[in-house]
Amino acid sequence: MAGPGPEVTRGVGSRTASGGVASGGVVIRTATAADLPAMAEIYNDAVRHTLATFDVDPQPPTLFAERVASRRPGDHVVVAEEDGRVLGMAYAATYRPRPAYDGTRETSVYLDADAHGRGIGRALYDELFRRVDADGIHTCLAVIAQPNPASEALHAAVGFERVGLLREVGRKFDRWVDTAWWQRVR
Ligand SMILES: CC(C)(COP(=O)(O)OP(=O)(O)OC[C@H]1O[C@@H](n2cnc3c(N)ncnc32)[C@H](O)[C@@H]1OP(=O)(O)O)[C@@H](O)C(=O)NCCC(=O)NCCS
Repeated sequence: MAGPGPEVTRGVGSRTASGGVASGGVVIRTATAADLPAMAEIYNDAVRHTLATFDVDPQPPTLFAERVASRRPGDHVVVAEEDGRVLGMAYAATYRPRPAYDGTRETSVYLDADAHGRGIGRALYDELFRRVDADGIHTCLAVIAQPNPASEALHAAVGFERVGLLREVGRKFDRWVDTAWWQRVR
């Protein structure tokens, strides 16, 4: 199956597998070019206030354009939308461009700060991995800057395991930061 997969819209108004309950009206769908500004806004909030990304300066609205446009099987970007507002996104993208890595993707997920703890991260990842698995991707990797208990819990919940820790590889907010590597193998 090519590209972002079917234009599935999944309601997450029911109880999620994570045990959380997303409020009614939240749908998970394929990201489009029209979502790029909202996606960048969510990402840039994480840039400014968290260690979730090692970007330190806000990024342009086109940041996710290539990933959204990709039709390469195994590449997917999904967003969570409620009342016409994008609350979060998850993506699976190239890990490294060399061909031996074709069966591997790096994944990540970001939510608006107001949308945490409602099962939306889990709903985004469930849909992302449904698509990634359907495309036959063998391994997914996630890099989680420390500490991030919410992200580690989410990755564990969808089948990742922690496989390593790189010490003091990032420097942000005037301190050294470790990154944990997590892996999900089908
Ligand atoms: C990480 C993130 C996507 C989680 O999304 P979320 O919608 O808040 O999480 P959910 O409500 O779907 O919960 C998913 C799991 O994480 C657990 N969890 C959520 N927040 C938690 C927290 N603060 N501490 C511990 N566990 C937490 C839930 O209990 C659930 O686990 P379970 O399935 O075993 O019950 C969200 O916190 C976020 O956007 N953080 C900022 C960006 C970020 O860190 N992205 C990850 C980059 S690696």
